[in-house]
Amino acid sequence: MTVTYPRKFRDQFGAREILDIVVRDQEIQNITLNRYRYSEQRACKDLTGLIERLNGQNRELIRDISRHIHDEARHAQWLTDLLYDLGADLDTPPGPSYIDEFERLLDDDGGTPGKDLDLDTFMIDTLAAINVTEKRGCLYFSAHIHALKHAEQTEENLAIRETLEKILPEEAGHVRWGNRWLAQMARTSPKNAERVEEAKRKYTAIEHAAFEVGMDVTLGAEVRRLQRLVEIADTMPLWDRPGYLLEHLPRILPETQAARFSLAQVAFKRDPAMFVQKFLPSLFNLTQPKDQAKSEAAAFN
Ligand SMILES: [Fe+2]
Ligand SMILES: [Fe+2]
Repeated sequence: MTVTYPRKFRDQFGAREILDIVVRDQEIQNITLNRYRYSEQRACKDLTGLIERLNGQNRELIRDISRHIHDEARHAQWLTDLLYDLGADLDTPPGPSYIDEFERLLDDDGGTPGKDLDLDTFMIDTLAAINVTEKRGCLYFSAHIHALKHAEQTEENLAIRETLEKILPEEAGHVRWGNRWLAQMARTSPKNAERVEEAKRKYTAIEHAAFEVGMDVTLGAEVRRLQRLVEIADTMPLWDRPGYLLEHLPRILPETQAARFSLAQVAFKRDPAMFVQKFLPSLFNLTQPKDQAKSEAAAFN
């Protein structure tokens, strides 16, 4: 069976390097924690939507997802309490959203399983999509904990680490849960085994493209988003590819340009000197890859 892992940002810069920079600046760390809070809160809403779409079909899956919502709600509550105690913002994070882009890249018809949609395909797609985002969560929480172990042991950093250490084992449990369900679905028929492999490849490609949208607003981002879109299309049957590309291409290019402009404004307001020295060169690819990635992590997290 295919085992897939989240890819590094632009294939060269991993979660550990990014989080090592994030923990050095409390304001950037708070923004990052608020992004986690937002994702956990959003997962409750999306998983609730899934129970409604299943509409009684597969009672075992509905029971498991209901428990899953309880876990994600608890994570959102722990992160909200933490941010509240830190005096940090609890607003909707600015800039392009990973979770929104992930959902937009799904070629999902929003239909009701059992009527227009084959239930097995719906379950396999849904479980594979949940599984890749849970893996990304585990990667980030463990990298964040690792970075905090090596950071200054302030009261704030200790409290953040304690919260992330409570969440991580449960996220790892969600990955194992998804793996078990996918393996179980693959055993039901050779056709489903094939569907599981296809879904893993497809949702890994979609997840990576969505992740880069939240991180990559430097010059050339349009070309890279186009490449990721083609990679997603390559996981689909030949006859579905042109329609998928035509649906998503027209919005991708203007959006990336707008994101670059609004993030430049945020960075300038925050620190005009850093904007000129670090942010501006990173926008126009003037620095070496390591320096560039540092300024991006500082400006966009
Ligand atoms: Fe969670
Ligand atoms: Fe989770």
